[in-house]
Amino acid sequence: MLNRMNDAPSNITIERKHNHVELCLRDDVLFDGTTSGFETLGFRHNALPELRFSDIGLTATFLGRKIGAPLMISSMTGGFDKAVMLNRRFAEAAEHFGIPLGIGSMRQALENGSQRESYAVVRKYAPSIPVLANIGAPEVAKGLSAADILTLLELVEADALIVHLNPAQEMFQPEGDTDFRRVLEELSRLAAAVPVPLIAKEVGCGISGDCAGKLLDAGVRVIDVAGAGGISWQKVEELRYIRQSGNENRFSSEALRELLNWGIPTARCIAEVAKLRELPAYGSFEIIASGGIRSGIDIAKSLALGAGIAASAGQLLRALHENRLEETIETWLNDLRAVLFLTGTPSPGQLGQQHLIYKHRPILS
Ligand SMILES: Cc1cc2nc3c(=O)[nH]c(=O)nc-3n(C[C@H](O)[C@H](O)[C@H](O)COP(=O)(O)O)c2cc1C
Repeated sequence: MLNRMNDAPSNITIERKHNHVELCLRDDVLFDGTTSGFETLGFRHNALPELRFSDIGLTATFLGRKIGAPLMISSMTGGFDKAVMLNRRFAEAAEHFGIPLGIGSMRQALENGSQRESYAVVRKYAPSIPVLANIGAPEVAKGLSAADILTLLELVEADALIVHLNPAQEMFQPEGDTDFRRVLEELSRLAAAVPVPLIAKEVGCGISGDCAGKLLDAGVRVIDVAGAGGISWQKVEELRYIRQSGNENRFSSEALRELLNWGIPTARCIAEVAKLRELPAYGSFEIIASGGIRSGIDIAKSLALGAGIAASAGQLLRALHENRLEETIETWLNDLRAVLFLTGTPSPGQLGQQHLIYKHRPILS
C-alpha cells in the first residue's frame, strides 16, 4: 500500500478527483447486478393525445425558478487542473438549455485556494442558471464554520448547497473517512445557518423513504435520490484500492459481489420518497431523480413517479468526453417530448403515476 500519510490533504484531494474522472471514463464501473428499476415501468398509450407534437414545451420549475427542461447536470468536477475545462463545458451546455448544474465536491476549496478557478469558471459561462455548491457528509459531520459556508457559496454564487451522503463510497475508498456520526445533527445546524436551500443527495446507493424523512426533519429542502443503476462508486474506489495496495481480499468474494452492487434502485427510491408527500408533516418538498438516467424515457419515468427533475452524471461525462454533450441532451429532451405526446400530457409537470404501467407489479406493493 502506498504510504499516503505524508501527503498534504489537498494533494490527495486533487489526485483523487483526477482518478475519479479517469476511472469513470475508461473502466467498467457500472452496476452489473442491480438496475435502476426503470426497465420495470412502461407508459399507458393515449390514442387521443389532443396535442400537436411541435407545441409541447419542456419548461419546468426548480427551487421556485423556471428552468428550460426538467434535467440537471449532476455534481461531478472541480478541484483539479483539467476540471477548469470540464466545468466550463458543463456550464456552457447547462446555460444553453437553461438547466441547473451541480458542482463537484468543493472540499479542495476548503483545504486551500489553489484550484479556485476550476469552480469559479462555472459562473463565467453560466450566469443565469441555478448552480449548486457541493460538500460531503464527512466534512459536514466535522462541523462547517461560517467562513467555510461562505467560501462554498461565494465561489460559485450558489443557489443551493448540496451535501452528499456517501457511506459506501467512503468505506471502499483507500483513504476514506468512515466517521458518519453526527451527520444528521450537523446537517440540521447547517440547514439553519445556510442562507440558501439545502439539498441532500447520495452518489449511487440511493436515499430511502426513511432516510428522506429524517433529512426533511433536519431542514433539508430537496432530496436527490441518486439511486443504484448507473455508476457504482464502490467499484470506482475498489479499483483505486486494488491499484494502490495490490490487495484484492478486503472482503470475501461473495460479499464483494453484493457490496459492489449495493444500493436501492433509483425508481424505488423515487417512489418511496414521493410517498412521504402523503404525510401532512412533509408537504411539498422537491425530488431530484438520479442514478442511472440513460435517456429521456428514464427522465419521463422519474417525473411520473414523483420527481420534479432528473439528473445525470456518468452518461453526460462520457458524452462530453466524446464531444456530443449538447447532442445527447437534445436527444434526451426529444425522447421526453415523445412520451408527453404519446401519453397526451401537455407539459412535464403533469406526468404522474396514472401514466405508468407496471410490467411486473407496482414498485411499492
Ligand atoms: C466523475 C464523477 C465525479 C463525481 N463527483 C461527485 C461529487 O464530487 N459530489 C457528488 O455529490 N457526487 C459526485 N458524483 C456522483 C454523481 O453526482 C451521481 O450522484 C452518481 O454518479 C450517480 O449518477 P449517474 O448514475 O448518473 O452517474 C460524481 C460522478 C462522476 C461521474
